[in-house]
Amino acid sequence: MTPLTRFSSQGFFCMVQPDTFTTQANNFMTINIGILGANGRMGRVLIEATRQDEASTLQLALVRETSSLIGVDVGELAGIGAVGILACPFSDAQTDDVDVMIDFTLPDALSSNLTWCVDHKLPVVIGTTGLNQHQKQAIADAAQTIPVLCSANMSIGVNLLFNLARQAARVMGQHSDIEIWEAHHRFKKDAPSGTAVALGEVIAEQLGRNLSECAVYGREGDTGERDANTIGFATIRAGDIVGEHTVLFADIGERLELTHKASSRMTFASGAVKAAKWLAAQKVGLYDMQDALGLNSIQLLDRV
Ligand SMILES: NC(=O)c1ccc[n+]([C@@H]2O[C@H](COP(=O)([O-])OP(=O)(O)OC[C@H]3O[C@@H](n4cnc5c(N)ncnc54)[C@H](OP(=O)(O)O)[C@@H]3O)[C@@H](O)[C@H]2O)c1
Repeated sequence: MTPLTRFSSQGFFCMVQPDTFTTQANNFMTINIGILGANGRMGRVLIEATRQDEASTLQLALVRETSSLIGVDVGELAGIGAVGILACPFSDAQTDDVDVMIDFTLPDALSSNLTWCVDHKLPVVIGTTGLNQHQKQAIADAAQTIPVLCSANMSIGVNLLFNLARQAARVMGQHSDIEIWEAHHRFKKDAPSGTAVALGEVIAEQLGRNLSECAVYGREGDTGERDANTIGFATIRAGDIVGEHTVLFADIGERLELTHKASSRMTFASGAVKAAKWLAAQKVGLYDMQDALGLNSIQLLDRV
C-alpha cells in the first residue's frame, strides 16, 4: 500500500502510513483496486467501473493460475480497449500498490481468496453469493485481521429495499403473508439469490422469527393452507435478467409489493467500487453495504 495524501476531518492533508488502516474516509484520494475473478461477468464490468470512477485506479486483475487469459490486457477482456493491466495469476501478483481487493467469484474460491487477502493484509469487498455457514464463518474470522465488507447486493436501491422491507415488516408483518420472489439470468448458479435470502433474514429478524425455521422454498402438490408464520420464496431463472426482487406483504383486502429491478451489472460494480473506496479507510472489522452507504443510521419510519 502506498502512502496516501488524505483530507482529514479537521481540514488538514495528512500522509497515511502504509501499514495502517485509517478511519479517515473521504473523497479526495485515489484508491488502487485489485480484482479477484477478473474474467468473470462481474469482474469484467468491475474493470470498466474502476475506469469510470475518477477516484479509483485498477492496479491488479487476478485470474486462476491455470487461466488461458494470463497476460491478456483486461481492458480488452472488458471490451473497453487496453488499460495497461494484464490478467495475472496469484503467484505473480504485485500487491505493494494495491489498497483494497474486490471479490466477485464463486463460493469455491472464497477460502483461498480470503487467505490470500489476509496474508497480504489487504481489505476485501466480497460480493460472491451462495455462501454456506462455514464460508460465512471464514469471512468473520478474516475480519479479525483485515477490514472486510460483505454484501449479497451492492446496489444502492436494493440496500434501501432492505430498510423498506424492515419497516414494512414492522407495520404489516405480523398479520400479512410474506412472500419474496426473485428473477435472474440463466447462468446464475445459486438459488434463491443471496439478496432474496438476506431480505428474508431482515424480515424474520424484525418479526422475531428464525428464517431457517420459517422459510418455504417453493411449493408443489398438496401443500395445505398457508402457514401464517412462514416466509415463502420463489425463483425464476431466464434469459439475461440482471436481477429483480419483490417482497410481498399480503393481507385480506390489501397488499404491499416492494420491487427492485436492476437493468445493468454496472449498478453492482459501481456500488462495489464505492464500497471499496469506503472500506480502504476503515479499521479491521466486518462491514456490509448498509455501513458503506450510511443506511444503518437512517430510520425511515421512527414512529408507527
Ligand atoms: N453482491 C452483488 O451485488 C452481486 C451482483 C452480481 C453477482 N453477484 C455474485 O457474484 C458472483 C460472480 O458472479 P458472475 O456472474 O461474475 O460469475 P461468473 O461469470 O461465473 O464469474 C465467476 C468468476 O469466479 C472465478 N472462479 C470461480 N470458481 C473459482 C475457483 N474455484 N477458483 C478461482 N476462481 C474461480 C471464475 O474464474 P474462471 O472463469 O476461470 O472459472 C470467474 O472469474 C456470484 O456469486 C454472483 O451471484 C453478486
